[in-house]
Amino acid sequence: MTVLVTGGAGFIGGNFVLDWLRQLDEPIVNIDKLTYAGNLQTLSVFEGDARHHFVCGDIGDRVLLDKLLSEHQPRAIVNFAAESHVDRSIHGPGEFIQTNVVGTFALLEATRAYWLGLSDQAKYAFRFLHVSTDEVYGTLTPDDPPFSEMNRYEPNSPYSASKAASDHLVRAWHHTYGLPVLTTNCSNNYGPYHFPEKLIPLVILHALAGKPLPIYGDGQQVRDWLYVKDHCSAIRRVLEAGAVGETYNVGGWNEKTNLEVVMAICGLLDELKPRQDGVSYAQQMTYVQDRPGHDRRYAIDASKIEQALGWKPAETFETGLRKTVIWYLENQSWVQGVTSGQYRQWLETHYHGK
Ligand code: NAD
Ligand code: TYD
Repeated sequence: MTVLVTGGAGFIGGNFVLDWLRQLDEPIVNIDKLTYAGNLQTLSVFEGDARHHFVCGDIGDRVLLDKLLSEHQPRAIVNFAAESHVDRSIHGPGEFIQTNVVGTFALLEATRAYWLGLSDQAKYAFRFLHVSTDEVYGTLTPDDPPFSEMNRYEPNSPYSASKAASDHLVRAWHHTYGLPVLTTNCSNNYGPYHFPEKLIPLVILHALAGKPLPIYGDGQQVRDWLYVKDHCSAIRRVLEAGAVGETYNVGGWNEKTNLEVVMAICGLLDELKPRQDGVSYAQQMTYVQDRPGHDRRYAIDASKIEQALGWKPAETFETGLRKTVIWYLENQSWVQGVTSGQYRQWLETHYHGK
């Protein structure tokens, strides 16, 4: 048995591959284009390990997909590959349409052709799990109930619109062609190997470098945070026991304003690696211009996956954030590896050197 993973050199995909191969013997074929967000250093522990077969490639490359599927005969595909950063999608939406929409379409078509050629038994057991986001549901007011699977799709950013489009394709390939799909819509993840363009790793690294900690707008936007390893355990559970054609919202019941998150990081750093001048890292917080179209609040109602599949997160926000801050303090070489010229150029373009 083999599982094919796309985008397995990114943040969540990388954690998924690491956790999978630490717990199971089933091999993984990992196809990743290695964009700025993909980093093979995350998976360096598996160098020479026959259970991890890495292929540098694009999910939009139909010829490559056909070849990989026929060669490795996976029993399941888990699709992590995507352009994933909202701010980048605002600066340049083209890549988001290309990978998230056109790429997912190519992957679905290759999968369908492969699946049709399987034996009845293998066809029945096969799964295509599409990893998506809560951002497809749009934004909530402070009094709205959290997003359930019944919420209408109302994406607001080029990123969330491209993910919504891919979710719709996945749904249609099930409804029309019978492809056995599963979709997960997860809230904001944080944890080890997170590329430092996203809030939590960016704040940790900027704090340590003595740089400003940029707070968009009033900092009162709310996100629902889940430790990445809990997202990975949810995906494994849905793959194992999810009902075909269903979608599952995944979240940690951890709504926090951005200011609360940044203050919590500063508090942990003050404790674990205090500034030499004894002043709190919170002093580096700087309010900057808001993100255009910034969604005010995301929150996930995770009761369906909890009740139907018995999944629960292992970490609270407090335990997960502490682990994350410690991981960044102890893994400076990984950080240096990803903070390449391209990353510095992104900071310059987006934050104008602030
Ligand atoms: P990421 O940006 O860290 O990683 C994406 C990976 O996909 C990278 O390794 C990149 O090289 C690869 N990739 C990009 N385009 C590709 C292509 N055309 N072909 C093959 N590989 C390609 O993203 P992430 O945070 O790990 O997110 C993974 C998935 O989870 C995405 O689909 C994202 O929408 C979803 N998701 C993310 C979050 C979050 O908080 N990060 C929350 C919910 C859902
Ligand atoms: P981000 O990590 O980019 O995830 P998403 O936009 O997918 O939720 O941002 C999380 C929140 O933090 C979001 O409300 C935007 C905000 N933010 C800042 O205030 N400053 C920053 O420098 C970044 C990157 C994000």
